Amino acid sequence: MLAAELSNSHYSTMAKSTFRNNKASSCFSDVFLYLGGALFAFLLVWSLWSYAGPDISGTSEPKVTDSNLKVGSNSKTCVKEDPAVNLLYDPPDTTFYDHPELRYSIEQPVKDWDQKRNQWLRHHPSFAPGARDRVVMVTGSQSTPCKNPIGDHFLLRFFKNKVDYCRIHGYDIFYNNVLLHPKMHTFWAKLPMVRAAMLAHPEAEWIWWVDSDAMFTDMEYKLPLRRYDYKNHNLVVHGWPKLIYEEKSWTALNAGVFLIRNCQWSMDFIDKWAKMGPMSPEYERWGQIQSSLFKDKLFPESDDQSALIYLLYEDKSLMKKIYLEGGYYFEGYWLEIVPTYDNITERYTGIEREDKKLRRRHAEKVSEQYGAFRDVHLKEAGNGKGSWRRPFITHFTGCQPCNGDHNKMYEGDSCWKGMVRALNFADNQVLRKYGFVHPDLLDSKTVQETPFDYPDDGPW
Ligand SMILES: *[C@@H]1O[C@H](CO)[C@@H](O)[C@H](O)[C@H]1NC(C)=O
Repeated sequence: MLAAELSNSHYSTMAKSTFRNNKASSCFSDVFLYLGGALFAFLLVWSLWSYAGPDISGTSEPKVTDSNLKVGSNSKTCVKEDPAVNLLYDPPDTTFYDHPELRYSIEQPVKDWDQKRNQWLRHHPSFAPGARDRVVMVTGSQSTPCKNPIGDHFLLRFFKNKVDYCRIHGYDIFYNNVLLHPKMHTFWAKLPMVRAAMLAHPEAEWIWWVDSDAMFTDMEYKLPLRRYDYKNHNLVVHGWPKLIYEEKSWTALNAGVFLIRNCQWSMDFIDKWAKMGPMSPEYERWGQIQSSLFKDKLFPESDDQSALIYLLYEDKSLMKKIYLEGGYYFEGYWLEIVPTYDNITERYTGIEREDKKLRRRHAEKVSEQYGAFRDVHLKEAGNGKGSWRRPFITHFTGCQPCNGDHNKMYEGDSCWKGMVRALNFADNQVLRKYGFVHPDLLDSKTVQETPFDYPDDGPW
C-alpha cells in the first residue's frame, strides 16, 4: 500500500529538485531539502503523515485533470527559492480585487474564479508553493451572548480546541460572528461565510467549515487531502450513499463539517445550495419538498443539510465531485464516541509504554512527526466506528451549548459531561507538549506535571 502511495511523479519531482541543487528550490515541502541521501527513508515517513489514513487503497498519483487543480499544480512549478510566504508583498498588478463589480455577497455570482485565483497566485509567487495543500478553517457563532450562562465558556473552549489543531498543523483559522447575509441565519449562515472566505483566501486550496459544537479529539490526525485530489473531488462531507439513495434519510450526511475546494465549481455549487435557503423566494416550497422526501425530518423549514442531500439525491452525477467520507470520523456523533475515550486512552498509554520514541519530549512544532511515529502502532486500530484510534472530530450534535436547549432525548447532564470529557481528552494531547496532563477528564481545573519519560511508570 505504501508503495502505491509513493507516486512516481512525486518522487521524480522531488528527486530532481533535490539533486539539482541543494538550496531551497523544491516545489514541494521544504522539509525534503534537509534530507538529501535519506530521501527514500524519509518518503516512507512522509507518506505516513501526509496521507494519515491507513486505508487509502490503491491510490496512485492524483491526476491533475481539471482546471480547478491548476492552482494547486502551479505549486509544483518552482516559483521561488524562499519557502517562506511573503506577507509584506502586494504588487500593483491588477487582480480580481481591483474589479469594482466583484461582490462578496452571496447574492452575486462570481465568474471565472479559477483564472482569477491563478492570476493572484502568479502575482504572489511566494504563496504558490504549498498552495495545493493550504487549508483555511472557518467557524463561528452568533453575534450576541449565549442564552446558556455557561454557553460562551463552552464556545471559547471549542474554539480554543480548533486553534490548537490549526496551530499544530499550520492551518489558518477564521472565526466569524456576524451574519454576512441578513436572511441566511442559523445553519444557513455558514454558506455566505465560506464563500467570503474563498475570496479572502485565494492562497488556500481548501476552506474547511467546522461547526462551533464540533471539536478535534485526535490532534495528530491530518486530513488525507490526496484522497480528495485523486479524482478531483471538490466537496467532502461525512456521509453514506446508501442513506441518501435507499433510505432517503435527512441524516444521510452531516453538513456541520465540510471541506470545499476554492474553485469555480464550489462557487457555483454554493449558489445552487443557497437557493434552497431563506434568502430565496422558494424557501417555503423547499421545506415542503424536503419534508416529503425525507420522512425522518421532523421540522418544516428547509435546512442546509437536507438541501445538500436533496441535491445529491436529484443528481447522482454530483457524486463525482462530492466525496462522502465514511473512512474515518470526519465528524462523528458524540453519543457514540464519548464512551470510548477511556479505552482509547488506555490503548495509547500502552503504546507509549512500549515505544520510547513516543515518550520523548519534543517541541510542539514537530508534533506531526510524532503522529507519524504513532501511526505505525495504529495499523490494527481501524478508523471511525468501532475503532480504538482516537476519533478525529467529535460533534456535539443536538447539545446546543450556546442556547442550552439540548435535545430532550439526552438525559440530564450527559451533554455537558460529554463536552467536558471531550475537551479535556483533546486538551491532554495539547498539554502534553507543555508538560502537563489532566488526570481526570471531568476535572477541567486540575493538571499534574508529567515526569520525565512519562508515561513509562506511574499510576497513569
Ligand atoms: C472497553 O474495554 C473493555 C475491555 O476490553 C470492554 O469490555 C468495554 O466494552 C470497552 N468499552 C467501550 C465503551 O468500548
